[in-house]
Amino acid sequence: MTSTHAFWLAGRQATGETTFDVTSPWDGRLVGKVSVPTDAQVEEAVAAAHAVRDEFAGTPAHVRAAALELVTRRLVERTEELAQLISAENGKPLKWARGEVGRAVSVFRFATEEARRFNGGEAQRLDTDGGGTGRLALTRRFPRGAVLGIAPFNFPLNLCAHKIAPAIAAGAPIILKPAPATPLSALILGELLSETDLPAGSWSVLPVSNDRMPALVQDERLPVISFTGSEKVGYSIMESVPRKHCTLELGGNGAAVILADYASDKDLDWAAARIATFSNYQGGQSCISVQRVIADASVYDRLVPRIVKAVETQVTGDPSDIATDVGPLVSEDAAKRVESWVDEAVKAGASLLAGGKRDGASYAPTVLADLPADTTLAREEVFGPVLSVRKVSGETEAFAAVNDSKYGLQAGVFTHDVQTAFRAHRALEVGGVIVGDVPSYRADQMPYGGAKQSGVGREGVRFAMEDYTYERVMVFTGLDL
Ligand code: SIN
Repeated sequence: MTSTHAFWLAGRQATGETTFDVTSPWDGRLVGKVSVPTDAQVEEAVAAAHAVRDEFAGTPAHVRAAALELVTRRLVERTEELAQLISAENGKPLKWARGEVGRAVSVFRFATEEARRFNGGEAQRLDTDGGGTGRLALTRRFPRGAVLGIAPFNFPLNLCAHKIAPAIAAGAPIILKPAPATPLSALILGELLSETDLPAGSWSVLPVSNDRMPALVQDERLPVISFTGSEKVGYSIMESVPRKHCTLELGGNGAAVILADYASDKDLDWAAARIATFSNYQGGQSCISVQRVIADASVYDRLVPRIVKAVETQVTGDPSDIATDVGPLVSEDAAKRVESWVDEAVKAGASLLAGGKRDGASYAPTVLADLPADTTLAREEVFGPVLSVRKVSGETEAFAAVNDSKYGLQAGVFTHDVQTAFRAHRALEVGGVIVGDVPSYRADQMPYGGAKQSGVGREGVRFAMEDYTYERVMVFTGLDL
């Protein structure tokens, strides 16, 4: 019999009056039953987060660092169990699930370091003008208040870690709402947090349904919202609370650009292998997976067959098998949506070079060429294992093609030329340019976030801590400077 997973209310375990089932997208088996907080329990968690905010902000750095260090260690110890759980609830192949746990370890480790380093205070002399004689400013950062973290299904552990760890490091209480499809890894994270001495109320993990999210979003006791998910939901949140501080990590349609100087067999083999892997990792369900390949005409004909071959050798199937590269999407509905977008593109004139088939929740790794610009696939984020290839002439046209999108999360530029890399950095309207690799590269300490419709604000531990806090200046007067 499957036991019911309790949730975490103000640091302690609790159960509500109802449960919901979490099932595997691969075979539909029951992975776990999750207890749902009642409205009164949600109210208790929010009230506790609000009440503890001053105490938590004043907690010594070493106390917060010690808690984060403990979670880091416990994540390492429970890696295999967590990887199996991520794979079961999300359908993510075990090899990628193990990688995700490793990244969550890094996030907590960085947060441990940042908790000790952050907010040393910055002194600024003010006697640069006559009116400031004898005056000195000291600037420190203070939490804006309790954070509402809303996490997506595609990285059930690590994107929860990206909400929680910086909040603890900055001394901001947090209410985490995991994705309804994948709450189990977040609940284990709660279990690890419960082993720490953090003040009651400083964190809660509440698996509430999406239709209960607006009440939390509107709650004035949660002045900061950190949301990762779709563009539509993200902007509807921000527009519903224009006076709150919102960080939105939204969609992308990541482009990989291959320029004329990236032309040796070794170069093209590397680019093709990386593109094939990262258009399909996690079934393409990453905001920075490769969706668009933009290749210079001089390398296009040698690159595309390599990509097709590399895509066709991706091992599809059971996510619990360590050999599997590509598992199912999060649900059959998600796979049906991807299927309908590919079908629409093919009807509109795109050529199918690989894949294009659905089996239940699984969609075959797919490559398209000649994708018409007015198709859904060309305009939107596919969030599935599908990429399109496009031929361009020269760098200027390539960069314009990348920018011809409402999204701007990350782009990959395959070039050996440092001047070209700098021009790409200046020209591309994205939050990150990855030189010599795919747009899907993310190190968890670097600033991560979008331009244009890909969102506002940045994650990456220190950058999230800056988002959760604001600068407060203190001016000393009458000093003998
Ligand atoms: C995302 O899908 O935005 C997260 C990507 C990552 O953390 O690698």
